[in-house]
Amino acid sequence: MDKPPRLDFSEKLLKYRPDPDRILEAAEEWGYGEKSREVIKRALEVESLGSMPFSMYEAPPIIERAEETAVVYDVDGKRYIDMMAGFAVSNAGHHRRAVLEAIVRQFEKIVQYSEMLTEDRIRLGEKLVSITPGGFPKKVFYTVTGSDANEVAIKLARIYTGRQYIMTQWGDYHGRTIGTAPLTHSTSTWSQIYPVPPADTAIVRIPFPYCYRCPCSKTARDCESCAEECLHQVDYMLSSKYYGLVDSSKGICNIAAMLIEPYQSAAGYIIPPDTWLPSLYKLARDHDILFALDEIQTGWARTGRMWAVDHYPGVEPDLFLVSKSIANGLPFAAVVGRREIMDSWGPGAHSTTFAGYMLGVAAALATIEVIKKENLARQAEEKGKYFRQGFEDLEKKHPLIGEFQNKGLYMGLELVRDRRSKKPASKETSWITMRLLQKGMLVKKAGYYGNRFALSPPLTITYEEIDEALRLFDEVLGEAESRFNVSPAD
Ligand SMILES: Cc1ncc(COP(=O)(O)O)c(C=O)c1O
Repeated sequence: MDKPPRLDFSEKLLKYRPDPDRILEAAEEWGYGEKSREVIKRALEVESLGSMPFSMYEAPPIIERAEETAVVYDVDGKRYIDMMAGFAVSNAGHHRRAVLEAIVRQFEKIVQYSEMLTEDRIRLGEKLVSITPGGFPKKVFYTVTGSDANEVAIKLARIYTGRQYIMTQWGDYHGRTIGTAPLTHSTSTWSQIYPVPPADTAIVRIPFPYCYRCPCSKTARDCESCAEECLHQVDYMLSSKYYGLVDSSKGICNIAAMLIEPYQSAAGYIIPPDTWLPSLYKLARDHDILFALDEIQTGWARTGRMWAVDHYPGVEPDLFLVSKSIANGLPFAAVVGRREIMDSWGPGAHSTTFAGYMLGVAAALATIEVIKKENLARQAEEKGKYFRQGFEDLEKKHPLIGEFQNKGLYMGLELVRDRRSKKPASKETSWITMRLLQKGMLVKKAGYYGNRFALSPPLTITYEEIDEALRLFDEVLGEAESRFNVSPAD
């Protein structure tokens, strides 16, 4: 392997900075409509180049409106099948009428008043403590974004336990603020925080059993043995005082909480073996470590259950983080946790002006109703099975497909140049992302090697739209195989 060159900080920055000329060229090359190209040009004049859309596609599409199902349109009126739901934010479908009406009703009363309590906010709290896992008394703390919720969880865990360390999994994503960046394993983020690396040194990282490419064993026979190998490493870290975390001879543990994602979302919708979460939970319980679960992306019926943790009976997180689809499109987040933890601090230890804001509360109450009334968890489960069948058929035909994983409509698709060596098809995945966009489908490229798709359509996607999505994958995978010379499956 070539040695990486020694770059100074400004040279590193240049590696990540998008080239505005190339963005304009790409919009031309991929046939963007006239209005889209004009808006992109204007965006390049006023939007920071650090904005996310500049990293997702060679040129960002300019989205204008959507249907209640999985269809969005751009500013030129071009139609796309939506396989992202705006990063799993519109689980109940775009712009639901019931949610809109609730927002308008609240708007007509009052929009916002610092972080004051309202009866609806208390009603939402009562609902959240009743629908989240854990048969013990719970309380809620509201925030606005997922990163903010993670900051609250870190603070609470430390304040309640009096311990310093937070344990998380390599590959997790918990936000990119200065407080959460140490828990988010992104080279681009870590390379661009200057002059210090992610500041929180009391973060310890454990392996995550991404069993298609097991980080703990080159020879793991199967997913279960990969999980066992990874668990062994965690157990090892907790058993020796020379790891700096636990000294059983003195009854000391320095770890406040495990703060983890049940499945790795930003990393490419990677689902660990079924034994992983219950085994980690047991280790946390054995060592009296709080178990904090970030269900910001996996929650709200996406995986075919209300929560991903519902797939693992008996796992009861002490702190539980929700956001994204909670208000079906409005920014809103909450930490729900054991009452004694939630009451272990006083006002002022955390606050943000829009925490629990009134329009968000109204939207969240209405969204929860829609999710329940339409049994979106059941819909996700059934549509996920339909997608699985479709992808299994495509797998027989397309050697590019390395693996497809799903729980409900939480779906990860990994592409490889060759199934034996599992060489990541990173270049191919980038091309496919743009070709799908050109043909009318929005997908999110992700993966440890940029060779996975994180697929999360609104749960209201219709079966016709699923067929359309599968047909587009079929066509474009075939084109990519010819273009990049990927040989047929054995
Ligand atoms: C699992 C998870 N946690 C936290 C976050 C951060 O949320 P936000 O972007 O709202 O700050 C995200 C965002 O994608 C996420 O997927």
